[in-house]
Parts: sequence; C-alpha cells; structure tokens
Amino acid sequence: MNWKGLLHQYEEYLPINEKTPKLSLWEGNTPLIALDNLSEKLGVELHVKYEGLNPTGSFKDRGMVMAVAKAKEEGSEAVMCASTGNTSAAAAAYAARANMRCIVVIPDGKIAMGKMAQAVMYGAEIYAIKGNFDNAMQMVRNLSEEAPITLVNSVNPYRIEGQKTAAFEVCEQLGTAPDYLSIPVGNAGNITAYWKGFKEYHQQNNTGLPSMHGFEAEGSAAIVRNEVVENPETLATAIRIGNPASWDKALTATDESKGKIDSVTDEEILEAYHLLAQSEGVFAEPASCASIAGLKKDIENGHIKKGSKVVAVLTGNGLKDPDCAIENSTLKPVVLPNEEEVVFDHILGRVKP
Ligand code: F0G
Repeated sequence: MNWKGLLHQYEEYLPINEKTPKLSLWEGNTPLIALDNLSEKLGVELHVKYEGLNPTGSFKDRGMVMAVAKAKEEGSEAVMCASTGNTSAAAAAYAARANMRCIVVIPDGKIAMGKMAQAVMYGAEIYAIKGNFDNAMQMVRNLSEEAPITLVNSVNPYRIEGQKTAAFEVCEQLGTAPDYLSIPVGNAGNITAYWKGFKEYHQQNNTGLPSMHGFEAEGSAAIVRNEVVENPETLATAIRIGNPASWDKALTATDESKGKIDSVTDEEILEAYHLLAQSEGVFAEPASCASIAGLKKDIENGHIKKGSKVVAVLTGNGLKDPDCAIENSTLKPVVLPNEEEVVFDHILGRVKP
C-alpha cells in the first residue's frame, strides 16, 4: 500500500478542501496485533491497536495532523496546548513541519522523560507550571480567547476528526467493528473520537458498532466519581486529569453504545503493563495499559462476555516513560567482570544468582 498519511488516506471523511495543506509525518496505519497468549488466558479474542507506532509515539498524531493543517490553512502562526506530554510532543512535531510556533504548558515534574525530550527536540516553547494538567488547560483556554493562537487540545474539533480515523482502521483491519472497545480515558477526547469514527464508518460501510468501555485511573476518576478531582494522582501521568474537557461526550459514547466508564488502580495498571510486555512482547506506556487492566477486570466481573472480540487501544509507546519501566521492574542486569569464564558460568547456571 502506498500510505501517505491520514489526510490523504481518509480525505473523504475529513474536513479537507483544496486550501488544506497536506501535512503528514506518515501517521496512522498502525498495526492491530492479535494477542494469542492473552486471548487464551482471558478467554476472549483480543487485539490491540498499537498507537505507539505513530511518528511521535502516540495516537495524538492523528488529531494533531488535522488540527495543525487547519490552523495553517486559516492563517494562524502559532499553536498552543496544555499537556501531560503526548499532546505537546505531537503539537511540537507537526508545528515544526508546518513552520509554526508551538507553545506548550505542562505540569512541572509530571511529564515522562521521553515526552519532555520530544518537546525540547522539536523546538516547542515550554512552560512548566507548579500546577496540574487541569490548571494548565484552564490557562490555555483563557489565553486562546484573547490572543491569536490556535488551541490544539482535543476541545478543538479538528483533533476529534483526525483521531476518529483510528476507528476506521480497526474496522478495516478486523473486517467489522469489535464487540467491545477498551480504551484509557484522561481528558476524554479519544473515546469521543473513536465513537464518532465507529458511527461514521458504520453508516458508510455497515461494519457494526462496539460497546465502548473506558477506563480512568482510580486516583483521577472524575467521571466515575461524578465529581471533579481537585488533586488527581496516578503513576499513569498521561491520564492524571481531574476535570476532563470532553466529560459529557464520553458519557454520550458509553450511553449510546451500552458501555461504561470504570476505573483501575495503579497496581492493576502496573500488573497489565508487565503482563503485556512479558507475555506478548508489546511495550506500551502505563496509561495505555489501563485498557488492558480494565478489560481484564470486566472479563472477571462478567461485563465483557467470554468469547467476545475485543480491541484494546494502546495509546502510547512504552519508551515514552523509561523511568516507570526501570523503577517498577524487579529484573536488574547482573553486573559482571569482563571475563568470559565468569559470564559463561552465570549464563549456564554454574553460579547461583
Ligand atoms: N493515553 C495516553 C498515552 C495519553 O497521552 C492520553 C492523553 C490518554 C491515554 C487519554 O486520552 O485525554 O483523549 O482521554 N494525553 C493528553 C496529553 C492529555 O496531554 O498528552 P484522552
């Protein structure tokens, strides 16, 4: 296939006209990987949509290519976002490619190292505030009302348009929609986008509709608790959000699809994080693994039926957050002298570890 990125591939489904720049970093077309070992263990047919293979390592590239292209088309010279790290990485990359300024506001000290490296490398103007994502989000919303800077958080409808293409790809790769879609929820833009995508694709291609199961981190589970969480906490920093911007739309998606939003604990997220990497060779960042932790819980409590076709969205690459991997792993390298005999003794089990 001659893949040229999302704006080219899904032009007919997207708000594109002759003036829209055909911006691309060859995003999209990510693999849907069948997880045979976990399917057997859990008693379902499980596939993961591995969004960590997008150009900046997360699903945000899908929305950002569309949002930045439209900002450029409209004559804007600068884009801005609040971010827990992935949105800022994607905004910075596409802004660089479109020759635009990129301003990012992030919670100081709560951004995974890989994401910080990306913002720096792509040349964003970075403001790290002594507050959380929700505080940053309020600031950029307010500023975008008084300054000529385009807001590219998922409250920008073009972000949702771009991100809905992931649902199209799932339907194409699977032949139909799955029975269930399991997805992490932070600011709630992605669950909104998937549901829109499934509905539009079904209308055109009769692919059916999944039941949408979204999962927040327990320490930031505003939608589940039905109240704003003032001080959200979770080791899954990507979804450390206490007042999701697309709260209502997430509830519409779960209501319409007869699904639900639930929460998973950090322990459950970490367990899923290791399980996925060690039983399938798929490394996804902690927030992504909320989808695996959640579906495991839903199978155990009967909310997902055995034998169903399930797609879990793995929103970001595991390499985004190397510190989390190292800090939470019990596996450590065995440090040895540069002596062949000693190394062989260890490998061949002649020395007790
Ligand atoms: N997974 C990852 C890896 C994310 O980075 C995010 C959101 C989500 C899941 C949740 O998606 O917000 O659409 O419900 N990250 C945003 C950011 C908030 O700034 O990068 P959502």
